[in-house]
Amino acid sequence: MKDGHKDVFKKCADFTEAQNVKDMGLYPYFRSIEGIYENQVVVGGRRKIMIGSNNYLGLAHDERVLEASQAAVRKYGAGCTGSRFLNGTMKIHEQLEEEIATFTQKEACIVFSTGFFVNQGVLATLLEGDDYILCDRENHASILDGCRFSAAKTVPFAHNNPEALRRRLSRLPAEGGKLVIVDGVFSMSGDLVDLPAMNKVAKEFGARIYVDEAHSLGVFGPKGEGVVHHFGLNDETDLVMGTFSKSLGSMGGYIAGPKYVVEYLKHKARCFMFTAALAPAVAGGVLRALQIMQEEPERMANLWKNAKKMQEGFKAHGFKIGTTASPIIPLLIGSEMKAFVFSQKLFEAGIFTTPAVFPAVRYGEAIVRTSYMATHTDEELDYVLDTCGRIGKELGIFDDAAYTGDKRKGSSGYDFTVPNESRDAAVREDAGVLAQ
Ligand SMILES: Cc1ncc(COP(=O)(O)O)c(C=O)c1O
Repeated sequence: MKDGHKDVFKKCADFTEAQNVKDMGLYPYFRSIEGIYENQVVVGGRRKIMIGSNNYLGLAHDERVLEASQAAVRKYGAGCTGSRFLNGTMKIHEQLEEEIATFTQKEACIVFSTGFFVNQGVLATLLEGDDYILCDRENHASILDGCRFSAAKTVPFAHNNPEALRRRLSRLPAEGGKLVIVDGVFSMSGDLVDLPAMNKVAKEFGARIYVDEAHSLGVFGPKGEGVVHHFGLNDETDLVMGTFSKSLGSMGGYIAGPKYVVEYLKHKARCFMFTAALAPAVAGGVLRALQIMQEEPERMANLWKNAKKMQEGFKAHGFKIGTTASPIIPLLIGSEMKAFVFSQKLFEAGIFTTPAVFPAVRYGEAIVRTSYMATHTDEELDYVLDTCGRIGKELGIFDDAAYTGDKRKGSSGYDFTVPNESRDAAVREDAGVLAQ
Protein backbone atom coordinates (compact mmCIF):
# COMPACT_ATOMS: atom_id res chain seq x y z
CA MET A 1 0.00 0.00 0.00
CA LYS A 2 1.08 3.54 -0.68
CA ASP A 3 2.35 5.27 2.48
CA GLY A 4 -0.16 7.39 4.36
CA HIS A 5 -3.21 5.67 2.83
CA LYS A 6 -5.57 3.44 4.76
CA ASP A 7 -5.66 -0.15 3.50
CA VAL A 8 -9.20 -1.51 3.52
CA PHE A 9 -7.72 -5.03 3.80
CA LYS A 10 -5.93 -4.26 7.07
CA LYS A 11 -8.75 -5.58 9.25
CA CYS A 12 -8.57 -8.89 7.36
CA ALA A 13 -4.85 -9.20 7.94
CA ASP A 14 -5.44 -8.42 11.64
CA PHE A 15 -8.30 -10.93 11.96
CA THR A 16 -6.87 -13.79 14.00
CA GLU A 17 -9.83 -15.02 16.07
CA ALA A 18 -10.74 -17.93 13.78
CA GLN A 19 -7.11 -18.99 13.39
CA ASN A 20 -6.60 -18.92 17.18
CA VAL A 21 -9.50 -21.32 17.66
CA LYS A 22 -8.19 -23.52 14.82
CA ASP A 23 -4.75 -23.60 16.45
CA MET A 24 -6.40 -24.87 19.63
CA GLY A 25 -8.03 -27.68 17.62
CA LEU A 26 -11.47 -26.40 18.60
CA TYR A 27 -12.77 -24.79 15.41
CA PRO A 28 -16.38 -25.98 14.99
CA TYR A 29 -17.49 -24.20 11.81
CA PHE A 30 -17.48 -25.04 8.09
CA ARG A 31 -17.23 -28.77 8.80
CA SER A 32 -17.30 -30.51 5.46
CA ILE A 33 -20.05 -33.11 5.19
CA GLU A 34 -19.13 -35.97 2.85
CA GLY A 35 -22.38 -37.89 2.94
CA ILE A 36 -25.79 -37.90 4.63
CA TYR A 37 -27.79 -40.85 5.96
CA GLU A 38 -31.09 -39.42 7.17
CA ASN A 39 -30.24 -38.19 10.71
CA GLN A 40 -26.54 -38.87 10.45
CA VAL A 41 -23.79 -37.16 8.48
CA VAL A 42 -20.32 -38.35 7.53
CA VAL A 43 -17.43 -36.03 8.36
CA GLY A 44 -13.81 -37.15 8.07
CA GLY A 45 -15.04 -40.65 7.17
CA ARG A 46 -17.04 -41.02 10.42
CA ARG A 47 -20.75 -40.89 11.09
CA LYS A 48 -22.14 -38.23 13.42
CA ILE A 49 -25.69 -37.85 14.70
CA MET A 50 -26.93 -34.51 13.36
CA ILE A 51 -28.43 -32.29 16.04
CA GLY A 52 -27.35 -29.06 14.43
CA SER A 53 -29.68 -28.72 11.46
CA ASN A 54 -33.08 -27.13 10.89
CA ASN A 55 -34.38 -30.08 8.90
CA TYR A 56 -37.24 -30.38 11.40
CA LEU A 57 -39.48 -32.70 9.42
CA GLY A 58 -36.68 -34.74 7.87
CA LEU A 59 -37.77 -33.76 4.35
CA ALA A 60 -34.41 -32.59 2.99
CA HIS A 61 -33.55 -36.10 1.80
CA ASP A 62 -37.00 -37.52 1.17
CA GLU A 63 -36.97 -39.51 -2.11
CA ARG A 64 -40.21 -37.90 -3.28
CA VAL A 65 -38.78 -34.42 -2.79
CA LEU A 66 -35.62 -35.35 -4.69
CA GLU A 67 -37.66 -36.78 -7.56
CA ALA A 68 -39.80 -33.63 -7.78
CA SER A 69 -36.60 -31.54 -7.88
CA GLN A 70 -35.24 -33.64 -10.72
CA ALA A 71 -38.49 -33.41 -12.67
CA ALA A 72 -38.41 -29.59 -12.35
CA VAL A 73 -34.81 -29.48 -13.60
CA ARG A 74 -35.76 -31.55 -16.66
CA LYS A 75 -38.72 -29.34 -17.40
CA TYR A 76 -37.34 -25.85 -16.67
CA GLY A 77 -33.54 -26.23 -16.67
CA ALA A 78 -30.78 -25.79 -14.10
CA GLY A 79 -31.43 -22.12 -13.45
CA CYS A 80 -33.56 -19.16 -14.46
CA THR A 81 -30.64 -16.96 -15.60
CA GLY A 82 -32.47 -13.85 -14.58
CA SER A 83 -34.71 -12.16 -12.09
CA ARG A 84 -38.39 -12.87 -11.60
CA PHE A 85 -39.09 -9.35 -12.83
CA LEU A 86 -37.57 -9.96 -16.25
CA ASN A 87 -37.04 -13.44 -17.68
CA GLY A 88 -37.06 -15.53 -14.49
CA THR A 89 -40.73 -16.11 -13.72
CA MET A 90 -41.72 -19.69 -14.48
CA LYS A 91 -45.00 -21.48 -14.04
CA ILE A 92 -43.52 -23.42 -11.13
CA HIS A 93 -42.86 -20.19 -9.18
CA GLU A 94 -46.45 -19.07 -9.63
CA GLN A 95 -47.71 -22.49 -8.61
CA LEU A 96 -45.59 -22.36 -5.46
CA GLU A 97 -46.88 -18.88 -4.61
CA GLU A 98 -50.49 -19.96 -5.05
CA GLU A 99 -49.96 -23.02 -2.85
CA ILE A 100 -48.33 -21.00 -0.09
CA ALA A 101 -51.02 -18.32 -0.18
CA THR A 102 -53.67 -21.05 0.14
CA PHE A 103 -51.77 -22.89 2.86
CA THR A 104 -51.11 -19.79 4.95
CA GLN A 105 -54.60 -18.41 4.20
CA LYS A 106 -53.27 -15.11 2.96
CA GLU A 107 -54.51 -13.24 -0.07
CA ALA A 108 -51.23 -13.29 -1.96
CA CYS A 109 -47.60 -14.31 -1.71
CA ILE A 110 -44.25 -13.87 -3.47
CA VAL A 111 -41.28 -16.11 -3.29
CA PHE A 112 -37.75 -14.73 -2.87
CA SER A 113 -34.46 -16.56 -3.54
CA THR A 114 -33.60 -16.71 0.17
CA GLY A 115 -35.40 -16.09 3.44
CA PHE A 116 -32.73 -13.53 4.28
CA PHE A 117 -33.68 -11.51 1.20
CA VAL A 118 -37.34 -11.55 2.26
CA ASN A 119 -36.68 -9.76 5.53
CA GLN A 120 -34.04 -7.49 4.11
CA GLY A 121 -36.06 -6.63 1.01
CA VAL A 122 -39.48 -6.19 2.59
CA LEU A 123 -38.29 -3.94 5.44
CA ALA A 124 -36.10 -1.84 3.17
CA THR A 125 -38.96 -1.37 0.71
CA LEU A 126 -41.96 -0.79 2.96
CA LEU A 127 -40.62 1.59 5.59
CA GLU A 128 -39.83 5.25 4.95
CA GLY A 129 -37.84 7.97 6.72
CA ASP A 130 -40.60 9.03 9.10
CA ASP A 131 -41.51 5.43 10.00
CA TYR A 132 -40.48 3.23 12.93
CA ILE A 133 -39.61 -0.45 13.04
CA LEU A 134 -40.28 -1.95 16.46
CA CYS A 135 -37.85 -4.84 16.56
CA ASP A 136 -37.49 -7.56 19.22
CA ARG A 137 -33.90 -7.55 20.50
CA GLU A 138 -33.47 -11.23 19.57
CA ASN A 139 -34.85 -11.06 16.04
CA HIS A 140 -32.82 -12.74 13.32
CA ALA A 141 -29.86 -11.02 11.62
CA SER A 142 -31.79 -10.72 8.34
CA ILE A 143 -34.36 -8.57 10.16
CA LEU A 144 -31.64 -6.43 11.70
CA ASP A 145 -30.12 -5.97 8.25
CA GLY A 146 -33.55 -5.10 6.87
CA CYS A 147 -33.79 -2.42 9.57
CA ARG A 148 -30.40 -1.06 8.57
CA PHE A 149 -31.28 -0.97 4.89
CA SER A 150 -34.59 0.79 5.47
CA ALA A 151 -34.79 4.55 5.91
CA ALA A 152 -36.97 4.11 9.04
CA LYS A 153 -35.76 4.45 12.61
CA THR A 154 -35.25 1.14 14.39
CA VAL A 155 -36.63 0.94 17.91
CA PRO A 156 -35.44 -2.25 19.63
CA PHE A 157 -37.51 -3.59 22.53
CA ALA A 158 -36.70 -6.15 25.24
CA HIS A 159 -37.01 -9.71 24.05
CA ASN A 160 -40.54 -11.09 23.89
CA ASN A 161 -41.75 -8.39 26.25
CA PRO A 162 -45.09 -6.78 25.30
CA GLU A 163 -44.81 -4.22 28.10
CA ALA A 164 -41.47 -3.04 26.74
CA LEU A 165 -43.11 -2.81 23.31
CA ARG A 166 -45.92 -0.74 24.79
CA ARG A 167 -43.46 1.66 26.46
CA ARG A 168 -41.58 2.15 23.19
CA LEU A 169 -44.73 2.62 21.13
CA SER A 170 -46.25 5.04 23.58
CA ARG A 171 -43.35 7.47 23.01
CA LEU A 172 -43.64 7.54 19.23
CA PRO A 173 -45.58 10.21 17.31
CA ALA A 174 -48.95 9.16 15.91
CA GLU A 175 -48.05 10.47 12.46
CA GLY A 176 -45.03 8.15 12.01
CA GLY A 177 -45.87 4.77 10.44
CA LYS A 178 -45.12 1.81 12.72
CA LEU A 179 -44.34 -1.83 12.07
CA VAL A 180 -43.78 -4.39 14.82
CA ILE A 181 -41.62 -7.30 13.70
CA VAL A 182 -41.04 -10.51 15.65
CA ASP A 183 -39.73 -14.01 15.08
CA GLY A 184 -42.42 -16.65 15.64
CA VAL A 185 -39.83 -18.93 17.18
CA PHE A 186 -36.51 -17.30 18.05
CA SER A 187 -33.65 -19.02 16.31
CA MET A 188 -31.17 -19.22 19.19
CA SER A 189 -33.32 -19.45 22.32
CA GLY A 190 -36.15 -21.50 20.77
CA ASP A 191 -38.62 -19.15 22.51
CA LEU A 192 -42.18 -18.88 21.23
CA VAL A 193 -43.30 -15.30 20.65
CA ASP A 194 -46.09 -13.98 22.87
CA LEU A 195 -48.08 -13.07 19.79
CA PRO A 196 -51.48 -12.47 21.43
CA ALA A 197 -50.01 -9.80 23.72
CA MET A 198 -47.75 -8.26 21.03
CA ASN A 199 -50.65 -8.13 18.65
CA LYS A 200 -52.89 -6.42 21.18
CA VAL A 201 -50.28 -3.75 21.91
CA ALA A 202 -49.53 -3.20 18.21
CA LYS A 203 -53.23 -2.68 17.47
CA GLU A 204 -53.59 -0.21 20.34
CA PHE A 205 -50.97 2.02 18.74
CA GLY A 206 -52.03 1.61 15.12
CA ALA A 207 -48.96 -0.45 14.21
CA ARG A 208 -48.78 -3.14 11.53
CA ILE A 209 -47.43 -6.53 12.59
CA TYR A 210 -45.02 -8.80 10.68
CA VAL A 211 -44.14 -12.32 11.87
CA ASP A 212 -41.11 -14.34 10.75
CA GLU A 213 -42.13 -18.03 10.65
CA ALA A 214 -38.69 -19.37 9.63
CA HIS A 215 -38.55 -21.77 12.60
CA SER A 216 -42.28 -22.22 13.09
CA LEU A 217 -43.40 -23.32 9.62
CA GLY A 218 -43.92 -27.09 9.88
CA VAL A 219 -43.58 -26.89 13.66
CA PHE A 220 -46.54 -24.84 14.97
CA GLY A 221 -50.14 -24.49 13.81
CA PRO A 222 -52.77 -27.19 13.16
CA LYS A 223 -51.11 -28.18 9.86
CA GLY A 224 -47.73 -26.58 10.37
CA GLU A 225 -48.78 -23.15 9.03
CA GLY A 226 -46.83 -21.40 11.81
CA VAL A 227 -47.37 -19.55 15.09
CA VAL A 228 -49.86 -17.13 13.59
CA HIS A 229 -52.24 -20.06 13.07
CA HIS A 230 -51.22 -21.69 16.35
CA PHE A 231 -52.58 -18.61 18.12
CA GLY A 232 -55.55 -18.21 15.75
CA LEU A 233 -54.28 -14.75 14.79
CA ASN A 234 -53.89 -15.04 11.04
CA ASP A 235 -56.43 -12.37 10.20
CA GLU A 236 -54.92 -9.98 12.75
CA THR A 237 -51.37 -10.43 11.43
CA ASP A 238 -50.55 -8.17 8.49
CA LEU A 239 -47.52 -9.90 6.99
CA VAL A 240 -46.08 -13.36 7.42
CA MET A 241 -42.74 -14.51 6.07
CA GLY A 242 -41.39 -18.03 6.01
CA THR A 243 -38.35 -19.86 4.70
CA PHE A 244 -37.93 -23.04 2.69
CA SER A 245 -34.55 -23.67 4.28
CA LYS A 246 -35.77 -25.40 7.42
CA SER A 247 -38.87 -27.64 7.63
CA LEU A 248 -39.14 -27.71 3.83
CA GLY A 249 -35.52 -28.82 3.54
CA SER A 250 -34.33 -26.53 0.74
CA MET A 251 -33.76 -22.79 0.32
CA GLY A 252 -35.73 -19.65 -0.46
CA GLY A 253 -38.48 -17.77 1.32
CA TYR A 254 -41.84 -16.07 0.98
CA ILE A 255 -43.81 -13.09 2.16
CA ALA A 256 -47.58 -13.47 2.37
CA GLY A 257 -50.19 -10.80 3.03
CA PRO A 258 -52.68 -8.47 1.35
CA LYS A 259 -52.62 -8.54 -2.46
CA TYR A 260 -51.93 -4.82 -2.84
CA VAL A 261 -48.89 -5.02 -0.55
CA VAL A 262 -47.52 -8.06 -2.37
CA GLU A 263 -48.08 -6.32 -5.71
CA TYR A 264 -46.13 -3.28 -4.45
CA LEU A 265 -43.23 -5.44 -3.19
CA LYS A 266 -43.13 -7.27 -6.52
CA HIS A 267 -42.42 -3.99 -8.29
CA LYS A 268 -40.25 -2.27 -5.67
CA ALA A 269 -38.28 -4.77 -3.55
CA ARG A 270 -34.73 -4.71 -4.83
CA CYS A 271 -33.84 -8.09 -3.28
CA PHE A 272 -36.62 -9.56 -5.38
CA MET A 273 -36.17 -7.60 -8.60
CA PHE A 274 -32.41 -7.58 -8.95
CA THR A 275 -31.44 -11.16 -8.19
CA ALA A 276 -31.88 -14.42 -10.07
CA ALA A 277 -35.11 -16.29 -9.45
CA LEU A 278 -35.33 -19.38 -7.25
CA ALA A 279 -33.86 -22.31 -9.23
CA PRO A 280 -36.49 -24.67 -10.68
CA ALA A 281 -35.05 -27.64 -8.78
CA VAL A 282 -35.63 -25.75 -5.55
CA ALA A 283 -39.17 -24.67 -6.43
CA GLY A 284 -40.09 -28.23 -7.49
CA GLY A 285 -38.67 -29.78 -4.33
CA VAL A 286 -40.33 -27.22 -2.06
CA LEU A 287 -43.72 -27.72 -3.70
CA ARG A 288 -43.50 -31.47 -3.06
CA ALA A 289 -42.23 -31.01 0.50
CA LEU A 290 -45.16 -28.68 1.21
CA GLN A 291 -47.59 -31.35 0.02
CA ILE A 292 -45.91 -34.11 2.05
CA MET A 293 -45.96 -31.93 5.14
CA GLN A 294 -49.74 -31.65 4.84
CA GLU A 295 -50.32 -35.30 3.88
CA GLU A 296 -48.20 -36.70 6.72
CA PRO A 297 -49.14 -34.93 9.98
CA GLU A 298 -47.37 -37.72 11.85
CA ARG A 299 -44.09 -35.97 11.01
CA MET A 300 -45.00 -32.94 13.10
CA ALA A 301 -46.31 -35.21 15.87
CA ASN A 302 -43.01 -37.09 15.94
CA LEU A 303 -41.04 -33.86 15.92
CA TRP A 304 -42.90 -32.77 19.05
CA LYS A 305 -42.47 -36.16 20.73
CA ASN A 306 -38.72 -35.87 20.16
CA ALA A 307 -38.58 -32.21 21.17
CA LYS A 308 -40.41 -32.87 24.47
CA LYS A 309 -38.23 -35.89 25.22
CA MET A 310 -35.09 -33.79 24.73
CA GLN A 311 -36.35 -30.78 26.70
CA GLU A 312 -37.15 -33.04 29.66
CA GLY A 313 -34.03 -35.16 29.21
CA PHE A 314 -31.63 -32.21 29.24
CA LYS A 315 -33.28 -30.73 32.30
CA ALA A 316 -33.01 -34.09 34.07
CA HIS A 317 -29.28 -34.12 33.29
CA GLY A 318 -28.96 -30.70 34.94
CA PHE A 319 -28.70 -28.51 31.84
CA LYS A 320 -30.23 -25.06 31.71
CA ILE A 321 -32.16 -24.81 28.46
CA GLY A 322 -33.63 -21.35 28.95
CA THR A 323 -37.24 -20.72 27.99
CA THR A 324 -37.40 -22.78 24.82
CA ALA A 325 -40.83 -23.96 23.73
CA SER A 326 -39.73 -25.56 20.48
CA PRO A 327 -37.44 -28.22 18.96
CA ILE A 328 -34.55 -25.72 19.24
CA ILE A 329 -32.89 -26.52 22.55
CA PRO A 330 -29.97 -24.32 23.61
CA LEU A 331 -27.66 -25.78 26.24
CA LEU A 332 -26.35 -22.96 28.38
CA ILE A 333 -22.60 -23.14 28.79
CA GLY A 334 -21.68 -19.51 29.64
CA SER A 335 -17.99 -19.45 28.83
CA GLU A 336 -17.16 -19.21 25.14
CA MET A 337 -14.10 -21.40 25.56
CA LYS A 338 -16.09 -24.14 27.27
CA ALA A 339 -18.75 -23.97 24.57
CA PHE A 340 -16.04 -24.65 21.98
CA VAL A 341 -14.53 -27.49 24.02
CA PHE A 342 -17.95 -29.00 24.73
CA SER A 343 -18.83 -28.97 21.02
CA GLN A 344 -15.51 -30.51 20.04
CA LYS A 345 -15.90 -33.31 22.60
CA LEU A 346 -19.41 -34.01 21.32
CA PHE A 347 -18.06 -34.12 17.79
CA GLU A 348 -15.37 -36.61 18.77
CA ALA A 349 -18.09 -38.70 20.43
CA GLY A 350 -20.09 -38.77 17.17
CA ILE A 351 -22.49 -35.84 17.60
CA PHE A 352 -22.65 -32.88 15.19
CA THR A 353 -23.67 -29.57 16.71
CA THR A 354 -22.22 -26.08 17.00
CA PRO A 355 -21.65 -23.46 19.66
CA ALA A 356 -23.18 -20.01 19.42
CA VAL A 357 -21.16 -17.18 20.94
CA PHE A 358 -21.44 -13.40 20.94
CA PRO A 359 -22.89 -11.63 18.93
CA ALA A 360 -25.28 -14.51 18.07
CA VAL A 361 -26.13 -14.66 21.79
CA ARG A 362 -25.56 -12.25 24.70
CA TYR A 363 -21.95 -11.90 25.76
CA GLY A 364 -21.01 -14.36 28.52
CA GLU A 365 -24.00 -16.58 27.70
CA ALA A 366 -22.47 -18.91 25.13
CA ILE A 367 -24.64 -21.86 24.24
CA VAL A 368 -24.45 -25.04 22.28
CA ARG A 369 -27.50 -24.86 20.05
CA THR A 370 -29.15 -28.22 19.47
CA SER A 371 -32.25 -28.91 17.38
CA TYR A 372 -34.31 -32.00 16.68
CA MET A 373 -36.01 -33.72 13.80
CA ALA A 374 -39.12 -35.83 13.34
CA THR A 375 -36.91 -38.66 12.13
CA HIS A 376 -34.47 -38.95 15.06
CA THR A 377 -34.73 -42.35 16.72
CA ASP A 378 -34.99 -42.91 20.47
CA GLU A 379 -31.66 -44.69 20.34
CA GLU A 380 -29.98 -41.64 18.78
CA LEU A 381 -31.62 -39.26 21.22
CA ASP A 382 -30.73 -41.34 24.28
CA TYR A 383 -27.13 -41.43 23.12
CA VAL A 384 -27.14 -37.62 22.72
CA LEU A 385 -28.58 -37.09 26.22
CA ASP A 386 -26.16 -39.47 27.93
CA THR A 387 -23.14 -38.12 26.06
CA CYS A 388 -24.01 -34.47 26.72
CA GLY A 389 -24.60 -35.23 30.41
CA ARG A 390 -21.29 -37.09 30.74
CA ILE A 391 -19.22 -34.45 28.92
CA GLY A 392 -20.98 -31.63 30.78
CA LYS A 393 -19.91 -33.18 34.08
CA GLU A 394 -16.36 -33.87 32.88
CA LEU A 395 -15.97 -30.21 31.90
CA GLY A 396 -17.46 -28.98 35.17
CA ILE A 397 -20.11 -26.99 33.31
CA PHE A 398 -22.68 -27.37 36.09
CA ASP A 399 -20.27 -25.85 38.65
CA ASP A 400 -19.66 -22.73 36.53
CA ALA A 401 -20.99 -19.26 37.15
CA ALA A 402 -23.62 -19.70 34.44
CA TYR A 403 -25.17 -22.41 36.65
CA THR A 404 -24.31 -21.35 40.18
CA GLY A 405 -24.69 -17.59 39.63
CA ASP A 406 -21.40 -17.15 41.55
CA LYS A 407 -19.36 -14.64 39.55
CA ARG A 408 -16.13 -15.52 41.41
CA LYS A 409 -16.33 -19.19 40.67
CA GLY A 410 -15.36 -20.89 37.45
CA SER A 411 -15.56 -19.13 34.14
CA SER A 412 -17.64 -16.04 33.73
CA GLY A 413 -17.67 -16.12 29.98
CA TYR A 414 -14.87 -13.56 29.77
CA ASP A 415 -12.08 -16.11 29.69
CA PHE A 416 -11.69 -16.38 25.95
CA THR A 417 -8.24 -15.05 25.36
CA VAL A 418 -8.48 -13.95 21.76
CA PRO A 419 -8.35 -10.28 20.77
CA ASN A 420 -11.80 -8.87 21.26
CA GLU A 421 -11.83 -5.38 19.80
CA SER A 422 -14.57 -6.34 17.35
CA ARG A 423 -16.64 -7.70 20.20
CA ASP A 424 -16.20 -4.51 22.19
CA ALA A 425 -17.07 -2.44 19.15
CA ALA A 426 -20.24 -4.44 18.63
CA VAL A 427 -21.22 -3.97 22.28
CA ARG A 428 -20.73 -0.23 21.92
CA GLU A 429 -22.67 -0.12 18.67
CA ASP A 430 -25.51 -2.08 20.24
CA ALA A 431 -25.58 0.26 23.23
CA GLY A 432 -25.67 3.21 20.81
CA VAL A 433 -28.66 1.80 18.96
CA LEU A 434 -30.47 1.22 22.24
CA ALA A 435 -29.79 4.73 23.46
CA GLN A 436 -31.42 6.29 20.36
C1 LIG B 1 -35.63 -16.39 12.07
C2 LIG B 1 -34.97 -16.46 10.73
N1 LIG B 1 -35.39 -15.64 9.76
C3 LIG B 1 -34.83 -15.65 8.54
C4 LIG B 1 -33.79 -16.50 8.24
C5 LIG B 1 -33.15 -16.46 6.89
O1 LIG B 1 -33.58 -17.54 6.14
P1 LIG B 1 -32.73 -18.27 5.02
O2 LIG B 1 -31.64 -19.04 5.69
O3 LIG B 1 -33.74 -19.15 4.39
O4 LIG B 1 -32.19 -17.25 4.11
C6 LIG B 1 -33.33 -17.39 9.21
C7 LIG B 1 -32.23 -18.32 8.89
O5 LIG B 1 -31.50 -18.82 9.63
C8 LIG B 1 -33.93 -17.36 10.49
O6 LIG B 1 -33.50 -18.17 11.46
